Amino acid sequence: MLLFKNIKQLLQIRDKNVKYVKGKEMKELPSISNAFLLIEDGIIKDFGKMEDCPQNIDAEIIDAKGKMILPSWCDSHSHIVYAGNRESEFVDRINGLTYEQIKERGGGIVNSAKRLQETPEEELYQQSKIRVEEVIALGTGALEIKSGYGLTPDAELKMLRVIKKLNSELPITIKATFLGAHALLPEYNGDKDKYLNLLINEVLPIIKEENLADFIDIFCETGYFSVSDTEKILKAGEKYGLKPKIHVNQFTAIGGLQMGIKYKALSVDHLEVMRDEDIEALKNSDTMPVPLPGCSYFLSIPYAPARQMIDAGLPIALASDFNPGTTPSGNMNFVVSTACIKMKLTPNEAINAATINGAYAMGVNDKLGSISRGKIANIYVTKPISSVDFIPYSYGSNLIDTIVLNGKIIK
Ligand code: NIG
Ligand code: FE
Repeated sequence: MLLFKNIKQLLQIRDKNVKYVKGKEMKELPSISNAFLLIEDGIIKDFGKMEDCPQNIDAEIIDAKGKMILPSWCDSHSHIVYAGNRESEFVDRINGLTYEQIKERGGGIVNSAKRLQETPEEELYQQSKIRVEEVIALGTGALEIKSGYGLTPDAELKMLRVIKKLNSELPITIKATFLGAHALLPEYNGDKDKYLNLLINEVLPIIKEENLADFIDIFCETGYFSVSDTEKILKAGEKYGLKPKIHVNQFTAIGGLQMGIKYKALSVDHLEVMRDEDIEALKNSDTMPVPLPGCSYFLSIPYAPARQMIDAGLPIALASDFNPGTTPSGNMNFVVSTACIKMKLTPNEAINAATINGAYAMGVNDKLGSISRGKIANIYVTKPISSVDFIPYSYGSNLIDTIVLNGKIIK
């Protein structure tokens, strides 16, 4: 047992059954001042005011005076499994090329795929493990990871097996998403159907057999995959029990978002380009919109209109999009800060978006995302700080003092 005492503020206390928070509810971050938190067998057992703190129990006691405790970040969108890096494209952009122009020159996703195809599975695992350990140290306790840098059946399956191994070897909760339809390799000579059929007929059955994915994704975007490609993939995913979480409205709005909603997508992600009708479509759905501010920051593209979405009564979740091309960072504290600074979210809204709503967007809200009795004890303790607002305010600092995953302190 682990007992934290004298916690300055215990943040994000929720009934276990709260699925997500939306609209005005996002302004509230329920908390207890001068609190205790008791963890047993990896689970949050109890919490409350210090005057009700259990006495004389056989637990390791930690004094958290001046410090705050939050549920770990739930990062519902990442491509953290990849080989090598793409810093030369970063320099190309500084010198004036756009993301699209770099793609036309053979860079972009296909560039990462070439590297990944040549990288043995164990080497890919080792490279990726370093990054997952890095985000654990930054306070992430749940992480969704996509395939999509393989782009051949073998390489896609290699990625998914690496994700599965990361999940079994590391203390963080990981969910896997099959993003075979991320880009088309030049060797297909533009024959998208041939590639999609391969994914549907050859890869999906193996994914099912080896239990390699929880969700299905597609990059629905001009120059990548169309809305009808999206329908084809989502329909196939549905047959195999894979809920959609899809890339839409990053550079152009072409109706992929509506298709996602039609197939009951758990989330629609990116949303840098949103029309009024896209915001309307999200109302009365259970699909979580997921802006990725780190991507907008790194590519200098518009930020998703998160403020407008919340004001329209929608929920939002925030995620990192950690990947070698558009967001080489999985720092969720930076994501939360950037959402406050660039999207005008309040600190409470941004923290809700990166915890409880993030948990929903990756299907783990019954286990993670809030301080609730019975949820998994994935939490972090801050250094002594003045207020919760200080967390996004100090955008470049690491404020983490102690990390607990599955009830165990991570060294
Ligand atoms: O989410 N937008 C599509 N996919 C990734 C980036 C892909 C890449 O450039 O490697 C994203 O931003
Ligand atoms: Fe992405």
